[in-house]
Amino acid sequence: MSTLEIKNLHVSVETTDGPKPILRGVDLTIRSGEIHAIMGPNGSGKSTLAYSIAGHPSYTVTDGEVLLDGENILEMTVDERARAGVFLAMQYPVEVPGVTVSNFLRTAKTAIDGTAPALRTWVSDVNSAMEKLRMDPVFAQRDVNAGFSGGEKKRHEILQMKLLRPQFAVLDETDSGLDVDALRVVSEGVNDVHAEAGSGILLITHYTRILNYITPDFVHVFVDGKVAEEGGPELAARLEAEGYDRFSPVGA
Ligand SMILES: Nc1ncnc2c1ncn2[C@@H]1O[C@H](COP(=O)(O)OP(=O)(O)OP(=O)(O)O)[C@@H](O)[C@H]1O
Ligand SMILES: [Mg+2]
Repeated sequence: MSTLEIKNLHVSVETTDGPKPILRGVDLTIRSGEIHAIMGPNGSGKSTLAYSIAGHPSYTVTDGEVLLDGENILEMTVDERARAGVFLAMQYPVEVPGVTVSNFLRTAKTAIDGTAPALRTWVSDVNSAMEKLRMDPVFAQRDVNAGFSGGEKKRHEILQMKLLRPQFAVLDETDSGLDVDALRVVSEGVNDVHAEAGSGILLITHYTRILNYITPDFVHVFVDGKVAEEGGPELAARLEAEGYDRFSPVGA
C-alpha cells in the first residue's frame, strides 16, 4: 500500500516576462488502487500538475511537496521518480525519431527494473500487450510516435503503462482524440493495470465518456491552479451539465 501526497504545491513557469505562477496550492492524496479524476477548464494548470509530478525542467516548484510514501520526489531526478514507480502519459506525446518502439520499451523496462527483462517472456509480454491494445505488431519497429496518428500515440502511452506497471500513473487527457473503439480498448488497458498492479491513477480528462469505462473513486475540479471542489463520480456528471461557471469569480 503506497501513498502519493501532493501538499500545498505551488509551481511557476519561466516566461519572457519572468516567472508566471500557475499552480497555487494544490492538495491531493492518492492511495494505491484509487482512481482520481481531475476535470477543469483549459489553462487551469492540469498538465502543469502532471509535468511537475514527473519532473519537467520548465516548471519551477516554489513551494510545497510531493511525497511518495513520505519521501519528497521533488528532490529526485526524473529517472529516479520513474524508478520509484511514477508514470506520466503525456497529453502530447513527443516523437523520438531514430528510436524504435521496441528498443524504447525494453530500455525503459530495464532502467526501471534495474535488470534487463528475460528476452523470451519480454517478447511475448510486448506482443500480448500490443494485441490487447489492438496495435499492429509493425508498430514495434517504427520510431517512437514518429508519424503516429493522435490515437496511436495515446495507445502507445498505455502500452508503456501496461509493460512498466507503475505504482502511480498520471494520465493526461489519454482519452482525447480517441474513436469509440479505441476509447474502450485504452480504458480496458488502464483497468487491467489498475487491477493487476494495484496502481493509483490520476486521470485528467475533459469528458465523462471515459469515466463510463474507468470508474473514478474521486473527482476533483481544478480551477485557477488548485482544487476547487471534490466529490464522487456524480460530480463529473454535474460538471458536464453545468460547466465551470459557478467556480469563476466573475461568473464569466
Ligand atoms: N511555457 C509556458 N509559458 C507561458 N505560459 C505557460 C507555459 N506553460 C504553461 N503556461 C500557461 O499555464 C497555464 C496552464 O497550462 P496547462 O497546460 O497546465 O493547462 P491545462 O489545464 O492542462 O489546460 P488544457 O485543458 O487546455 O490541457 C496556461 O495558461 C498556459 O498558457
Ligand atoms: Mg493540459
